Amino acid sequence: MTPSENTMRVEGRLAVPFFDKAPLSIERGEGVYVWTEDNKKYLDFTSGWGVTSIGHAHPALSEAICRQSKRIIQNPNSGATYSPVRAQLLQALQSILPGRLTRLFFANSGAEANDAAIKLARKATGRMNIISTEMSFHGRTISTASATGQATHRDKFNPLMPNYIFVPFNDIEAIARHIDDSVAAVILEPIQGEGGVNIPDEAYLPQVSSLCRKHGVYLIMDEVQTGFYRTGAAFASDQPGVHIDFLTMAKGIAGGFPFGAFAMTEEVSAKMEKGDHGGTFCGSPLGCAAAYAVIDVMKSSDIGKNVESVGSITLETLHRRRAEMPDLIAAVRGKGLLIALVMTSEKKTAELNTRCLEKGLILNVKQGTIVRLFPALTITQQEMDEGLAILHEVLLQINDA
Ligand SMILES: Cc1ncc(COP(=O)(O)O)c(C=O)c1O
Repeated sequence: MTPSENTMRVEGRLAVPFFDKAPLSIERGEGVYVWTEDNKKYLDFTSGWGVTSIGHAHPALSEAICRQSKRIIQNPNSGATYSPVRAQLLQALQSILPGRLTRLFFANSGAEANDAAIKLARKATGRMNIISTEMSFHGRTISTASATGQATHRDKFNPLMPNYIFVPFNDIEAIARHIDDSVAAVILEPIQGEGGVNIPDEAYLPQVSSLCRKHGVYLIMDEVQTGFYRTGAAFASDQPGVHIDFLTMAKGIAGGFPFGAFAMTEEVSAKMEKGDHGGTFCGSPLGCAAAYAVIDVMKSSDIGKNVESVGSITLETLHRRRAEMPDLIAAVRGKGLLIALVMTSEKKTAELNTRCLEKGLILNVKQGTIVRLFPALTITQQEMDEGLAILHEVLLQINDA
């Protein structure tokens, strides 16, 4: 039995089988590449679900984690004492957030950040209803699963949290029909990630924002997937006319270290009271050091430029593939390095996934027919082309079969 086979046997026996796993036991990574225990090299187009934003084993991130772990990992009384590295991170985050979001707090995951935003929006407004969108994804805790607009992630966990209203995404009239003074917040992804990389019309976010302001409703922008330069800009919702009350973050924020955050305006923060929120690990010095190192790399390397350039060439290439193979590829959508290739059949999507893996490319499949491409934001054009060449070869084989 090889080391990889042994690992798979142990995980297969002892871990709760929530995942349909690929037969890969990953032992290490560097940049956009990973190696199995048996030393096979793969190109990772998933960045661990949009997390390893500056690539695997980035030296600046590894060093920051090592350095901080030798100083202090968790403060006495956790968040009830001060931390220089936390203060440093607060300033770094503030420098890239939309201007009005001046107050921050930390979390350990995207779900936890969203859960807190929903909870605090209800408290601050004294209202109960939350408007969310169909096909959205906001997390897997009971309240964020309840806020998620996909039945598969939600409906088997009854009773769900009450007072969630679902409307179609990118439909301003639907929000207008439901918004009133019973609504605490609208929760929205600027681009739906898990739901299939659904991009709304340009006017949608400003229109939602203006409806929210008219009715005294908070706008919770879930940038867990789109934040930290994934779509080119630091935050996809940082657009003129979009007034955000809460912005939630996780995934790429700390390059793989489990970390999250939420930001709010000064006005919302003024409604918060001592004891409204907290958590043992929130804003731990170790997590703050990791996030600070990641943001520093992103800013100093002007990572958004790389995302825009590699992303737009990739989109052009994939649009060409679609024109060549219309019976196989139904659509191509994306912004920056959050890209979806929508296939025409589930069977062919599964075949594409398996054959690419055999050739050394790791993909992510969503909703049966959607191949989501979201590699590390540091990917070079050459590395992207290497993956696109494998994809092309396999697409041609399936199309010709
Ligand atoms: C938009 C969005 N919100 C929230 C979450 C949940 O984040 P986490 O898995 O860190 O709890 C995700 C995860 O994919 C997401 O894409």
